[in-house]
Amino acid sequence: MSTHSPLLSRIQSRSARIGIIGLGYVGLPLAVEFAKAGFDVTGFDVDDAKNAEINAGRSYIPDVSSSDLAAAVRDGRLRATADMSCLGAMDIVDICVPTPLRKTKDPDLSYVVKAAEAVAATLRAGQLVILESTTYPGTTDEVVQPMLESKGLTADRDFFLAFSPERVDPGNTRYKTGDIPKVVGGVGPASTELASAVYAAVVTAVVPVSSTRVAEMVKLLENTFRAVNIGLVNEIALMCHKMDINVWEVIDAAKTKPFGFMPFYPGPGLGGHCIPIDPFYLSWKARQSGFECRFIELAGHVNGAMPEYVVSRIADALNSVGKPIKGSRIHIFGVAYKKDVGDLRESPALDIIELLNHRGARITFTDPYVACVTHAGRVLESVPFEQAVAQPFDCAVIATDHSVFDYARIAALPLVVDTRNALGQTGPGIFRL
Ligand SMILES: NC(=O)c1ccc[n+]([C@@H]2O[C@H](COP(=O)([O-])OP(=O)(O)OC[C@H]3O[C@@H](n4cnc5c(N)ncnc54)[C@H](O)[C@@H]3O)[C@@H](O)[C@H]2O)c1
Repeated sequence: MSTHSPLLSRIQSRSARIGIIGLGYVGLPLAVEFAKAGFDVTGFDVDDAKNAEINAGRSYIPDVSSSDLAAAVRDGRLRATADMSCLGAMDIVDICVPTPLRKTKDPDLSYVVKAAEAVAATLRAGQLVILESTTYPGTTDEVVQPMLESKGLTADRDFFLAFSPERVDPGNTRYKTGDIPKVVGGVGPASTELASAVYAAVVTAVVPVSSTRVAEMVKLLENTFRAVNIGLVNEIALMCHKMDINVWEVIDAAKTKPFGFMPFYPGPGLGGHCIPIDPFYLSWKARQSGFECRFIELAGHVNGAMPEYVVSRIADALNSVGKPIKGSRIHIFGVAYKKDVGDLRESPALDIIELLNHRGARITFTDPYVACVTHAGRVLESVPFEQAVAQPFDCAVIATDHSVFDYARIAALPLVVDTRNALGQTGPGIFRL
């Protein structure tokens, strides 16, 4: 019997115990899916408040329903703890911790390293460890594997190690965790087979690849593809504005081509934990091999300049009614980084607020998913929509096109800058990106 057969049997019979490290946007939906599939799941998070919410059956992630979570907790299939010493009791450990950038735009692997240290401390023969955090090619075999092997066990023989990128799209009601195919690459064939078997229990399709590096690169290709195409369409939008062409009409007509074109839309800039960050993991790693990723740098430059461009359009709008930015009351509709979510991470709306604040504007905002924004030591609270459209301000800015906004009411305001084409029109008083 090969060394991985006992774990394979436990996965197939759903008797394997699964530990998920990091219970955020990625880890919590996954934990609930595994529990729903019949596995015994323990979540490990350093944030005690999150563990307490889970153990009380309350979800803090919009894509995870509290009723699903509560059912899993009630049935004894899901619990959360900060006690990492329990990791040794798990058959499978799935690492879903953050992978941010440092201020210098270099990868910050400190969360992955900390999680891997915790796994290494209790690692035993027969365990399967999977890294899901988005990271540069080589992280699993160059960073995590040596840490785990430092106790004398060998990967793909005594224990098993794989990388499987998370592709979840928060707020997407069409594709949830279980509907998105999972790419899996192990450090060897046994690791790939085991990790594939685990995911086959909860997702519609598993795509095994030949190595952890290929799996790591797949995720970075996907997100770089988005960053570069958004950069391209943002540049086309600036170009069209100069040439007095309606970019939105151009994209709508172009997307009627049934092959070879995929629509991307201009906007106020990139946001979220993935698209603005992940490509820089790739360019950093490529630079170590003496390769300069010009597309990534250029897209970063174009996308990073969009908040400044939005502010210039706000200045144009105010100028059209004889007002300066300084002292003007500017109301922002939507501050989350994308529609229908409450995630503020890297949101371009925060840059727009900062730039406007710097120029002396008086800023208010409405976002049904974000209660408050802290800026320059001040806390701005979200103004209810009805109150917002009734208040006298000099310019409204649609930064995020949440579905719940009543756009007819916004269109009726005297001066609007629409960065998302949410109103679908221009006209007197409406300035579209
Ligand atoms: N959010 C997304 O849409 C998305 C999509 C695909 C991939 N990813 C990737 O998945 C990873 C996780 O992202 P996320 O959005 O879930 O992050 P998150 O911030 O929502 O959640 C991470 C969780 O990890 C916990 N944590 C941090 N260090 C820990 C440690 N040492 N031990 C235990 N818990 C720890 C944090 O308290 C937090 O609850 C990142 O690499 C990200 O790039 C995210």
